[in-house]
Amino acid sequence: FQSRSLDGLRVVITAGPTREALDPVRYISNHSSGKMGFSIAAAAAEAGAITTVIAGPVHLSTPDSVHRIDVTSASEMCAATLSLIDDCDIFIATAAVADYRPVSSAEQKIKKTTDTLNITLIKNVDIVSTVAARDDSPFTVGFAAETQDVERYARDKMQRKKLDMIIANDVANSDIGFNSNDNAVTIFSKCGDSEAIAQTSKQQLGRLLIAKIATKVH
Ligand code: PMT
Repeated sequence: FQSRSLDGLRVVITAGPTREALDPVRYISNHSSGKMGFSIAAAAAEAGAITTVIAGPVHLSTPDSVHRIDVTSASEMCAATLSLIDDCDIFIATAAVADYRPVSSAEQKIKKTTDTLNITLIKNVDIVSTVAARDDSPFTVGFAAETQDVERYARDKMQRKKLDMIIANDVANSDIGFNSNDNAVTIFSKCGDSEAIAQTSKQQLGRLLIAKIATKVH
């Protein structure tokens, strides 16, 4: 049983990877499956929130009572997020957004004519920072996917991106993090407190995270 702790609030969640096209048949991406973001979306809807998940390319069915917007690239994910943010109370950035994209995508398939091939990348807009920087920003939660010094990097990201909360996971361990069914996280809040949650299913973790966020927004 999940209490309706977010009744009537509008929650927007990004989930999954993004794909940055190199040419019509190739792209740069990562191993995010979307499971963490979809579990949070399911838990938010169970808690009574009007919930939208903005999903990169994933193979998951949409949880009950969740609105879904499918996108491919980081730029599309950013545009979809900004189109919803005026009416949003809580924004949770679970997606593994590509930090860079190719400066241009070739119109035709790139041919294998040289021994080396240089691709110039350009930084993508940081979606969660853009949301947090708004005057009337929603309660903004980021994730930190780290492979070392998890606490230091996570706290630094929370400050730099001006987030209300950051959820850190150690993605060096293949039992948790990317594409696993389980995760283990530490939640850091802007006020300085932190809470570790031991390895559990992403489904259960989604509920715990939504319960924690609910205590902060009320
Ligand atoms: O999808 P799963 O297989 O279930 O895996 C879950 C997960 C490991 C992807 C998830 O738990 C997670 O850690 N998500 C964040 C991954 C990530 O890209 O982290 P980061 O430390 O690089 O980014 C920090 C934060 O900035 C994240 O909230 C990210 O969504 C956000 N960001 C990053 C870049 C960008 N251009 N825009 C953003 O909003």
